Amino acid sequence: MEQKKQIAHSTSKVDEGQAPQYEYHVPVMLMEAVDGLNIKPNGIYVDCTFGGGGHSREILKRLNADGKLFAFDQDPDAKRNLPDDERIVFVPHNFRYVSRFLKLHKAEKVDGVLADLGVSSHQFDEPERGFSTRFDGPLDMRMDQSSAKTAASILQTFTQEQLHKMFEQYGEVTNSKTLAATIVEQRKHNPLQTINQLKQALQTVVKGNPNKYFAQVFQALRIEVNDELLVLKELLEQLPEVLKPGGRASIISFHSLEDRLVKNFFKQGSFEEETYNPFSTGEREKIFKVITKKPTEPSPEEQKQNPRSRSARLRVAEKL
Ligand SMILES: C[S@@+](CC[C@H](N)C(=O)[O-])C[C@H]1O[C@@H](n2cnc3c(N)ncnc32)[C@H](O)[C@@H]1O
Repeated sequence: MEQKKQIAHSTSKVDEGQAPQYEYHVPVMLMEAVDGLNIKPNGIYVDCTFGGGGHSREILKRLNADGKLFAFDQDPDAKRNLPDDERIVFVPHNFRYVSRFLKLHKAEKVDGVLADLGVSSHQFDEPERGFSTRFDGPLDMRMDQSSAKTAASILQTFTQEQLHKMFEQYGEVTNSKTLAATIVEQRKHNPLQTINQLKQALQTVVKGNPNKYFAQVFQALRIEVNDELLVLKELLEQLPEVLKPGGRASIISFHSLEDRLVKNFFKQGSFEEETYNPFSTGEREKIFKVITKKPTEPSPEEQKQNPRSRSARLRVAEKL
């Protein structure tokens, strides 16, 4: 039944005796991330980023009939990938509200939380979603299409200073000041509503490899459109409350800005690097035991088979 449904929804084709072929999204570090959760067969788990459901399906495989899985995705499109399984509850909302929705479902404490951050291949490969520099399309980039902020609205409304900071901090664009000034100048006569309009407008400011440059510009816009760092912080801050003692968090991030937040929070319960304080009276009480001292990276085979996995870093921690 479940297999039939997967094929009908063309998320992952599973033929008898063959490895699944994922069309919607190839799950990254599937086994490593789910192994990290140390699944209890009758436990309650949360997949914060359901997407094509690859990680969720692996979690379900390891749960018995008493187990439960809450799957969040702020993009309602992901819902079509839901397996026909009564142990899974789909929550079509941002994971920043994880604790609120768990309370609503009377599951205040859980045994594990998984997050595989960023966008799915399906979102990325749809020109009209505006995530990829490879196509022309609207400058949208919203994972949640009911939200008001799009890449185009940011380009039209942010001040030069805001644009400068955004490209500097989120895209690490080397000439972010010039880039911001160019956008402010261009938008006086250019609507900057489409990917090609933006690329055309930035011809003169591109530094180095254009693909890399536009990738950085797009990364910054995407992070801003979806408040990606803020929502990650909000999720991390809820983990101590949401996880049972011994519960695990398994988080895959795709750029250093996210990975740094995860690393610091797992290590010390705060987001900034720890600095030496001579007046400190002692060690802060630890919230987590860090399971991955160094982040886990995809194996060379996985990186070869799925180049999009290359920048992924997995960190796992256990609630004390
Ligand atoms: C990288 S994909 C996850 C793929 C999934 N693990 C799989 O195996 O198919 C990320 C998904 O999470 C969703 N997402 C990203 N940030 C989110 C957030 N803050 N709240 C809810 N969903 C989010 C995206 O819409 C996307 O569908």
